Amino acid sequence: MSRGHYYVGLDIGSAEIRAVIAQEISSEEPLRVIGVGIAPSFGMRRGVVADTDSVAKACNSALEQAERMAGHPAESLVVSVSGTEILCQDALGVIAVGRADGEVVEDDIVRVLEEVQARLTMPLNREIIHVIPKDYRLDDQKSIKNPVGMRGVRLEMNALIISGSTSHLKNISRSLEQAGTMAESFVVEPLASAEAVLSDKQKELGTVLINIGGSTTSLVVFEDGDLFHLAVLPVGSGHITNDIAIGLRTSIEVAEAVKLQFGSALPEEISKKDEIDLSVFDSQENVFVSRRHVAEIIEARFEEILSFVNGELKTIGREGLLPGGAVLSGGGALLPGAVELAKKVLRLPVQIGYPKPLGGILDQVDTPQFTTAVGLLLLAQTNSSHKNSFSTPGKIMGIIPESVYTVVKKIKRWSKQFLP
Ligand SMILES: Nc1ncnc2c1ncn2[C@@H]1O[C@H](COP(=O)(O)OP(=O)(O)OP(=O)(O)O)[C@@H](O)[C@H]1O
Ligand SMILES: [Mg+2]
Repeated sequence: MSRGHYYVGLDIGSAEIRAVIAQEISSEEPLRVIGVGIAPSFGMRRGVVADTDSVAKACNSALEQAERMAGHPAESLVVSVSGTEILCQDALGVIAVGRADGEVVEDDIVRVLEEVQARLTMPLNREIIHVIPKDYRLDDQKSIKNPVGMRGVRLEMNALIISGSTSHLKNISRSLEQAGTMAESFVVEPLASAEAVLSDKQKELGTVLINIGGSTTSLVVFEDGDLFHLAVLPVGSGHITNDIAIGLRTSIEVAEAVKLQFGSALPEEISKKDEIDLSVFDSQENVFVSRRHVAEIIEARFEEILSFVNGELKTIGREGLLPGGAVLSGGGALLPGAVELAKKVLRLPVQIGYPKPLGGILDQVDTPQFTTAVGLLLLAQTNSSHKNSFSTPGKIMGIIPESVYTVVKKIKRWSKQFLP
C-alpha cells in the first residue's frame, strides 16, 4: 500500500516554534498528523529573526521532536513568515490572449500573473511572497472567477500582492540552513492561520481572522470568498506579560505564570477580595496581589491590541461591518474574557478559531496556537494537488524557494511546463 505524501509545516513564532509532520494517505481523507514538535522561541523579535543561531537551534529542536514522533524525516518544509514588514497591495495585469481563436488557456494565466508583477515597482529590499488572483476581466466582461476556456482578446487580472522584507526572508533561510534544512516555500502567517480556521462560508460572508501571537497580532480579512486585506501589528500577548511584570514589579517568568493561571480580560467579573500569592511562583516573592488589579492591566493592553485591529478595519471601511464576525486564534486568544472584550471593542460577533479537524494525533494540534502550523500543511497539500493549475482564484500561490529566488523566477520556471 502506498504511504502517500508527507507534508511538514514549520511555524516560526516569537513565543514558540512549532513543527508538524502530516501524512496524506489519500486525497479523500484528511491529513493525518504523525509528528509534532514544540520549542521555546529564542532569537525572534516582533516576528522577525534577530539572532539566526538561536532561531536555528530552536527550529532544529522542534523539527527533531516531530521527526522522532513521526519516524519520518522533516523534508520539504513549508515555513511561516511574519513581521510587521509584511504588506499587501492591489495590482493589475493586462495581456492579449495568446491563441488565434481567442480561447483563454493556462499559459495566458501564467503570462498575466507575470505581467501583474512586471508592472509593480518593488523596492530592492522587498520581495513578493504571494500573488493571489482575485478576479479577471475578459474584454467587457468583469468579475470572472476563472476565465480558462472562455474566449476574448484582452485579459485583465486583479490580484493581491503580499510582500515582505528581503533581509527577513534571507535570515529565515540562513537559520534553516544552520539547522541543516531549507524551506521549500514560505507562507505569511495570517494566511496560513486563516486556511486552518475559516470556512468557505465565513470567507464569503466577510470575516476577519485575528491571530494574537507572542509579539505580533496579525489579521486577515476575507470578503466574497476572496482575500481582502492583511496586516501584521507590532503588539501581542507578550506585551500583556510585560505590563503585568511592570505593574506587579515582578519578573517576566512570574508575570507569565500569573497571566496563564489567573489572567482575565474582564476585571469587573473578579471579586476585589480575590488575591494571588506570588510566592507560589517564586519563593522570593513574598507578596499577595489583587487578581482584579491584574485583570485591569490585562484589559487595558488587550483593549489596545483590539483597537489597533479596529483601526485596520477602519482603513478598509469594514469597522463593525463584517457579517461573518471576528475569529481569534494564536495563544493570546486563550485568555479568559478575550471573546467578550473583543465583542465589545470590535462590535462584531466573535469566536475562538480552532484548526479544522485532521486525522492522527489530534489533541496536540487542536488548539488556537497550532492554527498557523496546520494551515501550512493544508496549503502545502492544496498547492501540490493544484500544481498545474494557475487559474483558481484566491489560490495562495507564488510561494518561493529559499527566499533568494523571486516569484517571477519561479513562475517563469513553472511556465515552461506549459510550453508545447
Ligand atoms: N492559556 C493561555 N492564556 C493566555 N495567554 C496564553 C495562553 N496560552 C498562551 N498564551 C499566550 O500566547 C502567546 C503566544 O502565542 P503564540 O504561541 O500564538 O505566539 P507565536 O506564534 O509564538 O508568536 P508570533 O505569532 O507573535 O510570532 C504568549 O504571550 C502566551 O503567554
Ligand atoms: Mg504565531
